[in-house]
Amino acid sequence: MCGIVAYTGCKEAYPILIKGLKRLEYRGYDSAGVSIIQGGELATYKQRGSVDQLDEFCMTQNVTGHTGIGHTRWATHGEPSSTNAHPHLSADGRIAIIHNGIIENYLPLRKELTQRGYVFHSETDTEVLVHLIDDIHKNEQCDLAEAVRIALTNVVGAYALAIISADEPDQIILAKKGSPLLIGVGKDEYFIGSDGSPIVEYTRKVVYLEDGDVAVVNPHKKLEIKNINDNVKKRPYLQKLELNLEQLEKGGFEHFMLKEIFEQPRAIKDSMRGRLNVKKDIVALGGIIEYEQKMLNARRFIIVACGTSWHAGIVGEYLFENLVRIPVEVEYASEFRYRNPLIYEDDVVIAISQSGETADTIAAIELAKSKGATVIGICNVVSSTISRITQAGSYTHAGPEIGVASTKAFTAQVTVLALMALSLARKKGTLPLSEYHRIISCLELIPKQVEETLKLNDQIKEIAKFFVNKRNAIYLGRGVNYPVALEGALKLKEISYIHAEGYPAAEMKHGPIALIDEEMPVVVLATEQDTYEKTVSNIQEVISRKGKIISIVTKGDTLVKGMSDFCIEIPETIELLTPLLSSIPLQLLAYHVAVLRGCNVDKPRNLAKSVSVE
Ligand code: F6R
Repeated sequence: MCGIVAYTGCKEAYPILIKGLKRLEYRGYDSAGVSIIQGGELATYKQRGSVDQLDEFCMTQNVTGHTGIGHTRWATHGEPSSTNAHPHLSADGRIAIIHNGIIENYLPLRKELTQRGYVFHSETDTEVLVHLIDDIHKNEQCDLAEAVRIALTNVVGAYALAIISADEPDQIILAKKGSPLLIGVGKDEYFIGSDGSPIVEYTRKVVYLEDGDVAVVNPHKKLEIKNINDNVKKRPYLQKLELNLEQLEKGGFEHFMLKEIFEQPRAIKDSMRGRLNVKKDIVALGGIIEYEQKMLNARRFIIVACGTSWHAGIVGEYLFENLVRIPVEVEYASEFRYRNPLIYEDDVVIAISQSGETADTIAAIELAKSKGATVIGICNVVSSTISRITQAGSYTHAGPEIGVASTKAFTAQVTVLALMALSLARKKGTLPLSEYHRIISCLELIPKQVEETLKLNDQIKEIAKFFVNKRNAIYLGRGVNYPVALEGALKLKEISYIHAEGYPAAEMKHGPIALIDEEMPVVVLATEQDTYEKTVSNIQEVISRKGKIISIVTKGDTLVKGMSDFCIEIPETIELLTPLLSSIPLQLLAYHVAVLRGCNVDKPRNLAKSVSVE
């Protein structure tokens, strides 16, 4: 949440900052601002609203300078407003700061600073930092970088920070704990971003800051990184930024979300590339080979994740328990860490995260590690925090996901979970070769079948019209399609603002059935074979109460089709793999409903892509 960009070098800073902010807007978009050192002074421009609105305003000003910082905000403390927008300035207007994270002890710090005469203009937690740094800088007679370091030893919370001062016009001070920050190293210039997207077109040489780092960048000096607590210098570790500029563009689609839905055949194929060889009956995930024995001997798997990734985790539970026959628990990362869970050294924790920066998931991983469990990551963003703090893992290779509602990341996560379960099952001997061969053959077909499913787009667009004026919707699924029902409901509510609930179909009669009337759309996933008749009965129960049935069935189904108001037919696969197909129409449905309702599909209200606060 919140995006940070900064530049120092010989180029004009503003175009780099504003382009970077546009790329980072998925991290928060309620207000934005920049500060640039202009003729020995700080020029600061901030606006409530989008980066485009900020840009429009700045176009009317003469914004020029070679060192600057920019921020796009997702409000935590204080409503979205130009006053609460970053950057925040010191009392004399000579120091500017931008921040991603939360300062947990900001209230006592604010009280102390107020007593010392500092005046606060915003309601943010960030403003305490700039006054604290300024206070130390003035009273301890130290340089600004040292003042930042000392200040941070008094701070509890999470932060990625960039700080500039009118008195040091070529310098940017950076610090990181808990929120991501990377430095792009150019020739006599530095590009800073919350991720690689503002950096990639200028340089591929990057340094990922680590928790506890404070860094000083200055084009005329060597990059300097120190540890905040012990003040010891570190050698910067240069890495190659793996990111493709084309992946960051919409490629002719109206929205990133639609582009990402349509990218799924490629994304799933990339998740399997080099890992699945049906001819040779091989499934191998290089990233976890060293830990495979630990996984095979695990007492149980604990999957920790949030939101859509948590839904993928529940699909994983079905896959692992069915194929590997080891118990699985799926936990909301946020609940797991605060409920004093029992964790054993022979537990294997699997953390799933698209961004690799979700604060709750990171905290759950740290807890599991502290108890001696093995932690495996399934991440999309390469070199993200989670991919670095887990002992081993597998990337999903879905490519950058910009639309705030997760789509291709979900199917790629399910693909990797399926590969993991299949590889372990074969080695554990819980799956006969014939059955293993049948499943991997079906898995190999999935990208083609997703392509086929995407051809239903026009039909689903029509069905979406039925939802436009609805206030509620129910999604039902059984077995491995129960988490798909949860995911379908989440997609609808987060981008179209229609209240939607997902339930295991059989749970309906234990309460939710009271909601059914002629106004209620009920989306039913009816592809599973084992419980097909039971689902048919659940559909009858809805029809008897005049609910409207929108069904997802296997191609050729006539019974459920005949009972439905609308029916979407998807290709046939084995039951355990159906989420890879049945989730696609639900993504398209949510997308078209949101477009018809005039919602901001890629940037739904109140949300941000990367939830780096707890
Ligand atoms: C929903 C969505 C969120 C994320 C959740 C976890 O469409 O995107 O629910 O799935 O915030 O994020 P990651 O996977 O980045 O840890």
